[in-house]
Amino acid sequence: MKLGTPLSDTAVRVMLLGAGELGKEVAIELQRLGAEVIAVDRYPNAPAMQVAHRSHVIPMTDPQVLNGIILVEAPHIIVPEIEAIATDVLADIEAAGLARVVPTARAVQLTMNREGIRRLAAEELGLPTSPYAFASTAAELAEAAHRIGLPCFVKPVMSSSGKGQSVIEAVEDAGNAFAYAQSAGRVDAARVIVEGRIDFDYEITLLTVRSLDADGQTRTDFCAPIGHRQVQGDYVESWQPQAMSPAALSASQDIAARVTAALGGLGVFGVELFVKGDQVWFSEVSPRPHDTGLVTLATQIQSEFALHARAILGLPIDVTLRETGASAVIYGGIEAQGVAFEGVAEALRVPTADLRLFGKPESFARRRMGVALARGADVDQARERAREAAGRVRVVPA
Ligand SMILES: Nc1ncnc2c1ncn2[C@@H]1O[C@H](COP(=O)(O)OP(=O)(O)OP(=O)(O)O)[C@@H](O)[C@H]1O
Ligand SMILES: [Mg+2]
Repeated sequence: MKLGTPLSDTAVRVMLLGAGELGKEVAIELQRLGAEVIAVDRYPNAPAMQVAHRSHVIPMTDPQVLNGIILVEAPHIIVPEIEAIATDVLADIEAAGLARVVPTARAVQLTMNREGIRRLAAEELGLPTSPYAFASTAAELAEAAHRIGLPCFVKPVMSSSGKGQSVIEAVEDAGNAFAYAQSAGRVDAARVIVEGRIDFDYEITLLTVRSLDADGQTRTDFCAPIGHRQVQGDYVESWQPQAMSPAALSASQDIAARVTAALGGLGVFGVELFVKGDQVWFSEVSPRPHDTGLVTLATQIQSEFALHARAILGLPIDVTLRETGASAVIYGGIEAQGVAFEGVAEALRVPTADLRLFGKPESFARRRMGVALARGADVDQARERAREAAGRVRVVPA
């Protein structure tokens, strides 16, 4: 793919579907390489729109509207950033050869539904996962929970960031868990996955990059493992590298290589794994940069966003870890239209600290509004610094 001049006939046009904080960093990296960036999301002034050449506000789940905007913009590459997209349109666009979907339309479709990716990983590839079942009614859920064993996790098959997720400790909780999943699932399809709980020592994201080598063949590279801590299904801090036994690291890379090869295409994948001793379970995979990978902005020669931009453009990548580091999320804490950040200077006085303030136009209590990054002599020091810096930032009404 020959890079040309943005805003001219020679431009390589890249359309981001979803313009959040991860898309913003991808957009910046694409801009640096001279690509023309078009950001799309369902609300105005989304983070990536603020650094794109153009933007559009549309309901991305509406197939006709989405198709229309793709035809008007005629992007060469479409980069989905979120899961709530009319993915049938992407499959048609790809099949018609109108644009390349990153990594592939099929990968985007399989991973937007927990049932698709779980069946691929466990049943087709034979990867180790938690025991699981699917249920479409409260009664089926109670039966599945009984069969799988308690406690177990209940998740809408179409949801992310912990939405609609709960843990049931007793079969009697099934009704409530089912109702909760319905209230927070992305679409009205009343389907949930029930997963037995894995009693892991720690969990990681293994960023896995599929890129082209000098001969035009696809190669697979792994970033150093990222450890993270989740609260209510949402990540609150991450660090890199996570210390692992050689056996656990090699099992993780093997799982990541197999699942990403099955999904295909080029770009960064966030492979989520549970680890206990030398044993590793596949949890899920994002066919795009991962939120816990924000730490790579502080740690790697090329962040996961730079890696994604390069890989999708067919350019060489370098996954080298440069330093030990950590990230800590800054939540809104308040409901407000337009916010201001206090304590920024104090936060940046923490040694090695850096910040990304996403520029989101509206704050909610549990909305991620920014992230603090820090490096350290070891993971403990980096985590302490990132947490300290994040804690010094206060989100207030503008
Ligand atoms: N079967 C399980 N056993 C143990 N812990 C689990 C299990 N399933 C989920 N969890 C915990 O809940 C977290 C969120 O689960 P999961 O990644 O499936 O949800 P999600 O909504 O896709 O979250 P995100 O979008 O933030 O990745 C996991 O990172 C893990 O900490
Ligand atoms: Mg997850």
